[in-house]
Amino acid sequence: VNRDYVIDEMISAKSIAARIEALAHEIKREFRGTEQLVVVGLLRGSFVFIADLVRELDLPVEVDFLEASSYGDSMESSREVRILKDLRGEIGGRDVLVVEDIVDTGHTLSKVTQYLATRTPARLRTIALLDKPARREVDFKADWTGFEIPDEFVVGYGIDYAQRNRNLPFIGKVRFPDAE
Ligand code: PRP
Ligand code: MN
Ligand code: MG
Repeated sequence: VNRDYVIDEMISAKSIAARIEALAHEIKREFRGTEQLVVVGLLRGSFVFIADLVRELDLPVEVDFLEASSYGDSMESSREVRILKDLRGEIGGRDVLVVEDIVDTGHTLSKVTQYLATRTPARLRTIALLDKPARREVDFKADWTGFEIPDEFVVGYGIDYAQRNRNLPFIGKVRFPDAE
């Protein structure tokens, strides 16, 4: 964690914004006519994405959060997904969209959707800004994906490395010059 690293921009703030506009369009089409859409952000990584996404959705939206952590400060998935903070609201019989920053091994989003499905929402859909299919350990695909990325450690736009860099407005990849 104390090793020096540099961050190279991989996806600009502008391309993220453009992609979110297109995704919002598809989500509005899917949920048109919904009574209330509960948009669930997975803390902490999704907080930037959910903020930008909901502002593009002119639907009756409710925002809730759930915290499930697997990585902690490490660069490796623990594969044990713990629910650290549950939703405040009810989702039974309601439309739900789970918003995640990245699907890596797939453990987090697959466990969380299984967990939420037991409350029998009307429609349960998932969206992830980033997808790293090369790292998948469980068979899982979000209903919508912003960008498929190669197997690089990324930060920014909500995503951390040891809790830092979440505030970068773009997605960058972490590089360790001393390892090159
Ligand atoms: C990261 C990321 C995703 C998850 C993806 O969260 O934000 O939630 O890991 O990995 P997976 O597909 O291998 O499960 P993390 O556990 O680091 O918590 P954080 O969102 O608070 O950073
Ligand atoms: Mn996360
Ligand atoms: Mg993390």
